[in-house]
Amino acid sequence: MKARQIKPNVYWVGAIDWDRRLFDALVPLPDGTSYNAYLVQGSQKVALIDTVDPSMTDVLMAYLEDVPTVDYVIANHAEQDHSGSIPRVLERYPNAKVVTTPRCKGMLIDLLMIPEEKFVTVDDKETISLGNKTLEFIHAPWVHWPETMLIYLREDKMLFPCDLFGSHLATTDLYVTDKGQVYEAAKRYYAEIMMPFHTNIEKHLEKLKGYQIEIIAPSHGPMYDKPSFILEAYRSWVFDPLKNIVVLPYISMHGSTERMVEYLVGALVERGVTVKQFNLVAADVGKLAIALVDAATMVIGAPTVLVGPHPNVAYAAFLANALRPRLQFISIIGSYGWGSKAVEQLKGMIPNLKVEVLDPVISKGFPKEADFKALDNLAETIAQKHKEHGFA
Ligand code: FEO
Repeated sequence: MKARQIKPNVYWVGAIDWDRRLFDALVPLPDGTSYNAYLVQGSQKVALIDTVDPSMTDVLMAYLEDVPTVDYVIANHAEQDHSGSIPRVLERYPNAKVVTTPRCKGMLIDLLMIPEEKFVTVDDKETISLGNKTLEFIHAPWVHWPETMLIYLREDKMLFPCDLFGSHLATTDLYVTDKGQVYEAAKRYYAEIMMPFHTNIEKHLEKLKGYQIEIIAPSHGPMYDKPSFILEAYRSWVFDPLKNIVVLPYISMHGSTERMVEYLVGALVERGVTVKQFNLVAADVGKLAIALVDAATMVIGAPTVLVGPHPNVAYAAFLANALRPRLQFISIIGSYGWGSKAVEQLKGMIPNLKVEVLDPVISKGFPKEADFKALDNLAETIAQKHKEHGFA
């Protein structure tokens, strides 16, 4: 593929990874991904904004074959899917400087062994002139890692935010064409990568209000030529009130917990509460993460295995704790045969979640009359709490 022009002398030089199915050996990628790099040719200097995953360095190097000079290789983020090809680019352009934040410099030395003398560090709001194009660096820590920054290309009103606003989506479309598809992929990306840092994201969204942006060019997925689409989506995920939704990840070994889940779902629906149910035997944890963006409540369904919660449920609790959704309420339902510490153990796994824990319902063996009554009470409590908080 040839470099693809976005604006005069601004090119997409990325790599599309159609086949990748797992990121960070953790995050499912049902639709592949892309690693977007951008070449900005000013009248005096040339900058490469980010690189590509090391597995696809050859793709980037092919674009650069006809580019005689690169003066600046800019690293918005040290993670290897963007920085991993910097050493090869520096081999091709030995006089190029790596431009990044002071913190990212240290991380790139640690991760990629780039020699210290190759770096130029930039402060927040500092600019570099390429002649007729000006790059402004906006420090934006925790758009995934602590060292991250964004770039604003003033003359073309383009924002290069690296991971922020990205979507794991392999597509040959330069810009968003299927809004529904990109919305889901971007929400999945937000849930998995950005949600743990949503208080930082709030500040970055406020900061970006001061910039006139015509194109957002993220490091994964298609670009946004109508930036309001993704800016409004992010604002809704970060600022909008939570919804009248219960997320219910569960597993069942012999049917007891499953019967409780079925009963509770019915009781919640009767009371006007939406439920998103995930059987963890085969659930896509990315979909679970998406559901956690807006939900007011999570109910965990856990049978007891060797005194504690089933390991798949423990994994879901651990994941929810790490993703730090804005949940307000949590409860636990489940069953045991002869003894259980599942509730205590699960409660201990979610210290990051600032939630009210509603009375758990745990059944000895198959659920009986008293258990169903307790599930009705739980459903009623959840519906009432949602109403009181105005979650609609
Ligand atoms: Fe796309 Fe945090 O790297």
